[in-house]
Amino acid sequence: MNLPYIPPYKTKMIEPLYFSTKIERKRWIEEADFNLFKLDSDWVIVDLMTDSGTGAMSEQQWAEVMLGDESYAGSESFYKLKRTIKELLGFEHMVPTHQGRAAENILFSATVKEGDIIPGNAHFDTTKGHIEFRKAHAVDCTIDEAYNTATDHPFKGNVDLDKLKKVLDDNPKDNIPFINITITCNTVGGQPVSLKNIEQVHQLAEQYGIPVFMDIARYAENAYFIKKREPEYKDWPIKKIVEKTFSYCDTAWMSAKKDGLANMGGFIGTKNEELFTAISNLTIIYEGFITYGGMSGRDMGALAQGLQEAVDFNYLESRVEQVHYLGEKLKEYGIPIQTPVGGHAIFIDAKKVYPHIPQSEYPGQVLAVEAYVEGGVRGTEIGTLLADRDPDTGLDRYPELDTLRFAIPRRVYTRNHMDYIAATMRNVYENRNQVKRGFKIKWQAPILRHFTVQLEKL
Ligand code: F0G
Repeated sequence: MNLPYIPPYKTKMIEPLYFSTKIERKRWIEEADFNLFKLDSDWVIVDLMTDSGTGAMSEQQWAEVMLGDESYAGSESFYKLKRTIKELLGFEHMVPTHQGRAAENILFSATVKEGDIIPGNAHFDTTKGHIEFRKAHAVDCTIDEAYNTATDHPFKGNVDLDKLKKVLDDNPKDNIPFINITITCNTVGGQPVSLKNIEQVHQLAEQYGIPVFMDIARYAENAYFIKKREPEYKDWPIKKIVEKTFSYCDTAWMSAKKDGLANMGGFIGTKNEELFTAISNLTIIYEGFITYGGMSGRDMGALAQGLQEAVDFNYLESRVEQVHYLGEKLKEYGIPIQTPVGGHAIFIDAKKVYPHIPQSEYPGQVLAVEAYVEGGVRGTEIGTLLADRDPDTGLDRYPELDTLRFAIPRRVYTRNHMDYIAATMRNVYENRNQVKRGFKIKWQAPILRHFTVQLEKL
């Protein structure tokens, strides 16, 4: 008999959960204007709101916390991080930032101007937010397969080269500061991008003289999928796949709260010295001196260690396979999910669960609220609320995918928790026809509305 994979670690410290009742949860979600971001975390039983900053650190990472060098300039913890990034990802230059969107702010301040076009696979919401905030446009060139949750494609995060070429042909080069590849592609379901596709984008970019930038929050999970699904690389160690991936980009930024296995942090890495000078100045203005840029020494040390742990094959296997285990359970219960299952999350297709609820009533959010009330499971809507309004017309955008995302924190939950989530969703799915209407918006912020939106039941 083959032995099953198990996590390559055991538990050393626990955090107790409070088992609330359905009656309590109904009251709390109403008081929160049906916005799950407004719930106290104590009111949540299994928290799948995000895999960002919610992972458990290892004993070695905690040891780094104790070793943190908090010097303002030139701290040893900074050099540990810098050496790790150079060795793993190949970037000669880097600046730390307090998280991913801070890196976006700095990098785009140096590169994006009004009227610019940034093509790529589906941009994450903060990326798009930072582009649109600068009156520039993010153009989604993801392959069509990404938007059909029922089709099986090993690399649904891939860039469609024809769509990309059209954008490059139709716009002046001066208006395209870079092409952006997000690995894995969060917005379409944590879907990977193949090495072949990355190489092809790089080739096209070279022909047009435009640099490739990467948003690398989940690059280690992407490398795992390349090893598993791209036959050429099946015998390659993860580190070698990572090295090859990064040989095709000029600059990358990372929200280190994901595959950095850290609770806070981010950075920009670049091979371009001129750009490094520009972002160094901006880092000092926005984040802090260039040898800490928004992070404490202890956090930089823990991140340096986390980056190493995240490329361990056994860790990646237990991580991604746990997400897949949940996906298989949900499929067994007939629940429509984005397939194949991505790296960090399950995306449940709310348009298919509630075909009678139009996107103008936010079916993804309806599903998120039902899951919370049923089992205290908190996910997030990745759908119409998140897609926000068109900056030109001010009207709601209706994305192809209207989903509930369950993002699984790293090294936190057990297989029993996965069974609990699946049972919760089975009940929600069985009761789907009793939910007749969705929500209308009572109040919304001008940008990134989903964080603070107030909703009313129709
Ligand atoms: N890029 C990607 C692909 C992301 O998934 C995120 C964050 C960011 C950039 C921004 O990084 O949060 O550190 O400022 N994603 C989180 C999520 C919030 O839940 O998917 P940040």
